Amino acid sequence: MANQIDGKKISAQIKEELKERVTAMEAEGKKVTLAVIQVGKDPASSVYVGNKKKACAYIGIHSLSYELEEETSQEELLALIEELNGRKDVNGILVQLPLPSHIDENRVIRAIRPEKDVDGFHPESVGKLCIGQPGFVSCTPAGIIQLLKRSGIEIAGKECVVIGRSNIVGKPMALLLLRENATVTVAHSKTENLKEVTKRADILVVAVGKPKMITKEYIKEGAVVVDVGIHRNEENKLCGDVDYDDVWPVCSAVTPVPGGVGPMTIAMLMSNCVESAGGWFSGSEPV
Ligand code: GUN
Repeated sequence: MANQIDGKKISAQIKEELKERVTAMEAEGKKVTLAVIQVGKDPASSVYVGNKKKACAYIGIHSLSYELEEETSQEELLALIEELNGRKDVNGILVQLPLPSHIDENRVIRAIRPEKDVDGFHPESVGKLCIGQPGFVSCTPAGIIQLLKRSGIEIAGKECVVIGRSNIVGKPMALLLLRENATVTVAHSKTENLKEVTKRADILVVAVGKPKMITKEYIKEGAVVVDVGIHRNEENKLCGDVDYDDVWPVCSAVTPVPGGVGPMTIAMLMSNCVESAGGWFSGSEPV
């Protein structure tokens, strides 16, 4: 029987801690400012961006909002990033993805100064994570480490399996777990005998992008299961990559969808912004 890992509660704690830090920084005359850029009007992106701005307002982070037309050229976007790179009052720059197809996302990510790369997507940030140097870490995997630690779950020495190898979740997740001294396996769509691999996991992180794919047949008795997926089912209800009701009886702890990993991503973005303004990096130990 599983404990539910409460991402809503843990993210709220982190936001409270950040709010206190921002208040203390303001008393010393240090302001935290995040520039948020959205190109076009993708409805899902608008919701994400709105939530990020709301979280900024709650914590006391100043947000600058740039809502650019879908037709904005790559050169115009790069010029804006260059301007924000040079502004001393801007600590973090976030370009909401996906971008329209005429813009090269990698080029845009590379244009953001690593010191302001609060998403942790810049090749320099990823490289630093890989070689164990301090730098910004992608928010979802950083949030998962916080979820585990703040739930009292031991990572060191454990068998961890990550399903998914994306640049934003799977790969940085594997590197962070390795940094925490876990034994890490990355599985993906071409992995043979997936169930055999996942059944070895003490901690299973699922980022496959398929609704309710992971059932109890994939889970070792007593495992911790972290569900990164978010989908809408036929009844328009949110669900994850994990069949929660099916796995719940066999695992020791599991994250729900919604209210698990999701709220942690924004909390860690806020944490990265505060770190950026504080002028120091702490990787996966931001709060
Ligand atoms: N689109 C979906 N998730 C993210 C994210 O974490 N950061 C940015 N910049 N865009 C996204």
